[in-house]
Amino acid sequence: MSLGLGCSERSGMVLDKFSFERRFAAMDGFKFGYDEGILADILKRKSSGRVLDLGCGSGGLSLELAGRGFDITCVDISETAIDRIREEAERRGFDMNIICADLECYEIEGEYDVVLALGVLQFLGDKGEGFLRRVMDCTVEGGINVIDAFRNRWLPMGKLEEVYSDWEVLERDEYVWERDDFAKMIYLVCKRW
Ligand SMILES: C[S@@+](CC[C@H](N)C(=O)[O-])C[C@H]1O[C@@H](n2cnc3c(N)ncnc32)[C@H](O)[C@@H]1O
Repeated sequence: MSLGLGCSERSGMVLDKFSFERRFAAMDGFKFGYDEGILADILKRKSSGRVLDLGCGSGGLSLELAGRGFDITCVDISETAIDRIREEAERRGFDMNIICADLECYEIEGEYDVVLALGVLQFLGDKGEGFLRRVMDCTVEGGINVIDAFRNRWLPMGKLEEVYSDWEVLERDEYVWERDDFAKMIYLVCKRW
């Protein structure tokens, strides 16, 4: 699943929203990786359209989808990641909307066929549910949301399913993030009726 690392209060790992900027800035090389399974789940449902990738990280999935003809907007708080994605998009000749912003206050503009929030909800704490509602609102009918999230006190068992109860659940998985025994993950692909 996602390339993410997350917060786990039990393990003592406390990552804040700037953790990835520190990590990206310290990296020698920059890899534009993505999860093949998530890409396949998107391509099973959509072959074109507008994609919003929130907390896009190194932007690998956004770049891959741009190469396949999707219209991409990707957003991350990390200036280093955003600069690298801009350089890579230019190198590949892709016209992408690449935005450096804090999702806690980012106002989503426009409507999307696919919205991705992969490995980012844990950084939003109690603002996560409001963020998810904005994600849902900007999704067109027939559009999908792909969410990969750490369970935590703001996202207890069943919470994500409750938020998406009026949508069709296309994929659902629960797993443990290998780098942290206590990080229980939930993965959902949901479709708006
Ligand atoms: C675990 S990484 C996931 C990256 C990518 N979505 C993936 O699945 O590989 C989490 C990303 O969320 C970004 N992030 C965390 N808090 C954020 C915030 N408040 N606003 C925007 N981006 C944020 C981090 O900078 C990081 O790139």
